[in-house]
Amino acid sequence: MGGVNAVRVASACGKLLLFGEHAVVHGVPAIAVGLSDGVEVVRVDGPPGWHVPAWGVDTATGAPESMVHAHRALCEAAGTGPVRLAVTSRIPAGCGLGSSAALAVASARALIEDDEAAVAVAAAASESVFHGNASGLDQAAATRGGVIRFVRGAPPEVRDLAVGGRVALVVASVGAGASTAEMVAGVQRRISRFPRVGGGMLEAVSALVGCAERALAAGDVDELGELMDINHGLLCAFGVSTGALDRACYTARDAGAAGAKLTGGGGGGCIVAVSAEEHAVAVAAALRSDHEIVRSYLLTPDGVTA
Ligand code: MEV
Repeated sequence: MGGVNAVRVASACGKLLLFGEHAVVHGVPAIAVGLSDGVEVVRVDGPPGWHVPAWGVDTATGAPESMVHAHRALCEAAGTGPVRLAVTSRIPAGCGLGSSAALAVASARALIEDDEAAVAVAAAASESVFHGNASGLDQAAATRGGVIRFVRGAPPEVRDLAVGGRVALVVASVGAGASTAEMVAGVQRRISRFPRVGGGMLEAVSALVGCAERALAAGDVDELGELMDINHGLLCAFGVSTGALDRACYTARDAGAAGAKLTGGGGGGCIVAVSAEEHAVAVAAALRSDHEIVRSYLLTPDGVTA
């Protein structure tokens, strides 16, 4: 990472949503993991914008437009005026692994020192450009790392969750995800058209997040898998899955995963499969035959490892 006048390196985590995405926008609890392979940001001299070589992006040239707007919102909220930020990313962009939240939080940390509340406000200004009605879940996972339970609010309710065993997670990307803001708006439209059905689905997600919390505490992989399958079904019902995401879930299950679901905003992007540690290699191999980006993580009582 370059820049003669670099002041310091700020970082933030990527994220993996285990349960409750989309429903979380409507006040339902969700469970997420902050992944230490995230992004690092340094403030440097040069034309204002984000320079992210890993994504082939330099917003100083005026594109992509949403990133130009998000960068402007971030700098305004941070009170710095337009600045250049050099970004090293270990997560792919736009596939549901929290690239925008990691970018927002690490950038806000690069601009604002020793004031986490101000960092949260600046990061939220950027995130709301990408997400529209963002719940703040991605931002919380990017900020804290670890396994968290999150409920939307002002302030949000966030706490660390215990993991009572060894739980393998395999993530595979089916390609670029759709705009999160558009997916969130689509779910809102469906709930508004069928309020009783939508209300029932949100209640079901809320109940399953409670079950997932207990299954995580017990380290019960089979139960977590079954709950992921149910959550995926509900995400299909919200209208955010695709044929490619469904097929990837079946590939993972057929290879020995205990369960699988789409993760993040949907419309493309990633699935996450949960499995016993001894099956994770076979699950990853099966997914790798069709998907370029496949990553494995292990949740243990001591933390999250890649
Ligand atoms: C996107 O990663 C998560 C969503 O629930 C949106 C949000 O929580 O802001 C789809």
